[in-house]
Amino acid sequence: MAKTSISARTGRLSAIPSAPNLRVVGAPEAKPARQAAPFVKWVGGKARLTDVLAPPPGVRRFAEPFVGGGAMFYHLHNTGDLQGAVLCDVNRDVVTAYRVVQTQVDALITALQLHERRYLKLDAAGRKAYFYRVRARHPMDHDMDDVERAARMLYLNRTCFNGLWRENASGRFNTPHGRYANPRIAREPELRACHEALQGATILERDFRMLPKLARDHGVDYVYLDPPYHPISATSAFNAYSRGGFGARDQAELAEVCVELDQMGVRFMLSNSDCELIHSLYERFDVSQIHAARAVNCKAGKRGKVTELVVRNLHRW
Ligand SMILES: C[S@@+](CC[C@H](N)C(=O)[O-])C[C@H]1O[C@@H](n2cnc3c(N)ncnc32)[C@H](O)[C@@H]1O
Repeated sequence: MAKTSISARTGRLSAIPSAPNLRVVGAPEAKPARQAAPFVKWVGGKARLTDVLAPPPGVRRFAEPFVGGGAMFYHLHNTGDLQGAVLCDVNRDVVTAYRVVQTQVDALITALQLHERRYLKLDAAGRKAYFYRVRARHPMDHDMDDVERAARMLYLNRTCFNGLWRENASGRFNTPHGRYANPRIAREPELRACHEALQGATILERDFRMLPKLARDHGVDYVYLDPPYHPISATSAFNAYSRGGFGARDQAELAEVCVELDQMGVRFMLSNSDCELIHSLYERFDVSQIHAARAVNCKAGKRGKVTELVVRNLHRW
């Protein structure tokens, strides 16, 4: 069933194609037993919106410059016929984890199983102490290899409060311990499905300003951009994924990147909050509103459905 949306440019009601129209031509015959899905819980993750955020037909070379959990990448991988993907983020921990899942999944699973065995046998106080010991081991302070770094990140992501990856101004992960009774930490089948999906992907720690060059170098034909959202009020948006934050100036530079992509003939879709700044930055493109369930609000009563914007350069699709 198609969802409706209102075009901010034309004011017309239009339909954003949903799942059946999403299918990218030539779906591969042999599907893996398990569909790949994000291996980290990530604030702003798009797992529940992938059917609404339909890509154009025939995507072959995809780029995601704010990859986070990578919900859109896995969706395209599972439903389409991707021949290549460029996945970038500025968060070093998440990029390291992607690389390790891609190239050293066996060692990673072994390291996570060790965390799982040690952690689950402890009582509540012991688990808490274990969590803070692992959290204190900053990957840059210690002589850790990439497998240990990735295992640390995934262990913390599965056991911290709400799965929230938040960094302070000096780039240190600072989310407190969560209280899950029996968290699955190693998740071998899920990691193996991601490992398969990531074969052939290019994974880079890059700022989004590098995107036009990367798109050119890799012959990218479609980009999905999911930046930290511009706050609709002083306290509304979470954007502490990494130490730098993301301000109005970053949003403006991102809009310039989209203009450049458009001039290169690359199709794009961007998600952001429904606010004045984003409307004005993307006036020249096709802007639609969608309804999205938001989970990040410190007040439970304020979690719920809000409108978000989807920006596309439809004349290129
Ligand atoms: C809204 S999240 C993306 C969520 C993702 N679409 C998903 O499904 O999980 C935004 C991401 O942008 C990254 N980020 C923040 N500033 C960035 C920058 N300047 N360049 C590239 N990535 C950045 C953050 O680390 C975070 O992973």
